[in-house]
Amino acid sequence: MQVVTVLLVLVVSSTYAHIVRDRIKNSKVNKNKRIFGGEPAEPGFATYQVSIQTPLFEHICGGSIIGDRYILTAGHCIKNYINKHRESELQIVTGTNRYDKPGGVYYVKDLILHCNYGIKEYHNDIGLIRLNESIVFNKFTQPILLPTEPLKDGDEVVLTGWGNTDYINDLPDDLQKITLKYVPRKECLEALDNNPGLDIGHICTFTKEGEGACYGDSGSPLVKDGFVFGVVNWGFACATGKPDAQANVHFYNDWIRTQMKD
Ligand SMILES: *[C@@H]1O[C@H](CO)[C@@H](O)[C@H](O)[C@H]1NC(C)=O
Repeated sequence: MQVVTVLLVLVVSSTYAHIVRDRIKNSKVNKNKRIFGGEPAEPGFATYQVSIQTPLFEHICGGSIIGDRYILTAGHCIKNYINKHRESELQIVTGTNRYDKPGGVYYVKDLILHCNYGIKEYHNDIGLIRLNESIVFNKFTQPILLPTEPLKDGDEVVLTGWGNTDYINDLPDDLQKITLKYVPRKECLEALDNNPGLDIGHICTFTKEGEGACYGDSGSPLVKDGFVFGVVNWGFACATGKPDAQANVHFYNDWIRTQMKD
């Protein structure tokens, strides 16, 4: 039986390994196949990409720079750090394709979770990180724009992230990239058997079995022509042949702008 999983690398690595091993036992997936199905991104490919981490360079989630003090990510990436006032445990690494070799390191001023996060399971899974200092932009560090129109049938988006590329190895050192197709809502609902976890605040992406997001890609951006259209949310992990659900940034534009005060 498949289990819906948010695509977060749990901070406790033994728990993570446990989950991964269970999946290998229970799955028919060819272990030698790269689950993510992407390829390393060239330096400077995704200048908006950040890694959200613990201070020991342990990657938790991805995110994208949408302002000199703002990071866009998934709600489930920051949720646990709000409840327990653990904001100071996070660092944001910018300007690099190697999450352990930062271009810049920034710290949290506020974690902003959507007020209707999880009102139903997996709904409104979007959040912002307000930094306590402005990001210094350069060749490898740049913001990405919020979309001005929704995606349409036939569109493709580029996902970047440091999520797992297979069930065996640790996270890849190098940022990975993959082009995915936007899946219209009706088609996606059908493919996901009308899963109630999918709501109007999601978009779906898919190509084929063996390609898609995995653990550690949560919060990472899906981009087209310089606009961030999606934020990795959840899927049947990993790349099992069903569309992945991503937060629909266009749907949350007003919420995002309202939160970005300065
Ligand atoms: C931001 O937070 C970091 C880590 O707590 C701290 O070292 C730094 O001085 C802070 N910067 C400002 C401008 O407060």
